[in-house]
Amino acid sequence: MKLFIDTANVDEIREINDWGVIEGVTTNPSLIAKEGRDFKEVVKEITDIVDGPISAEVISLEAKGMIEEALELSKIHPNIVIKIPMIAEGLKAIKELSKKGIKTNVTLVFSANQALLAAKAGATYVSPFVGRLDDIGHEGMNLIREIAEIFDIHGIDTEIISASIRHPEHVKLSALAGAHIATIPYKVFKQMVKHPMTDLGIERFLKDWEGVPKK
Ligand code: E4P
Repeated sequence: MKLFIDTANVDEIREINDWGVIEGVTTNPSLIAKEGRDFKEVVKEITDIVDGPISAEVISLEAKGMIEEALELSKIHPNIVIKIPMIAEGLKAIKELSKKGIKTNVTLVFSANQALLAAKAGATYVSPFVGRLDDIGHEGMNLIREIAEIFDIHGIDTEIISASIRHPEHVKLSALAGAHIATIPYKVFKQMVKHPMTDLGIERFLKDWEGVPKK
């Protein structure tokens, strides 16, 4: 499973990219708004940091508008992936964009049937939102399992991005459930790298090292 970072903050992206573990970035309008900077400028800066798929989302709710925005965003860098909301107009846009060779990431996926429709329209990626399903009392991870099974049975090559990740357990379970990618917030990367036993172990090694005779 590949790991993407889910943020529009370039400092966070730089820090985690330096670990050598991320292969792409996802943004959304809320994450962009948090940065208080020009959308295209931020996206361009991200493409200079990470050499992999960078998702940038359209705002229009009509296929024509989505395609126009997609064409503009695609000019920023060849790695740009157009994030399209999972609505009927979005499906029309995905079809057109895939004919033009533009990659798409279908966002706000909350059911296996939505994922199937997105894949049929030609989506490169689908993003089921695990955490937001958990928030309303569902088991978000079941959706990843269902989509992974359907895509596997039918040889569908659209990749599953496990999104709306809230904690490290979501990452592990996404990998076990068959997601191709997990898009992970900065905070969760920082949690994933830590373990109290690692810290204790280092402390003990360093303490014992003090007793090694030095020449
Ligand atoms: C996915 O691409 C979205 O940007 C993201 O995972 C949404 O997560 P949230 O539910 O924490 O906003």
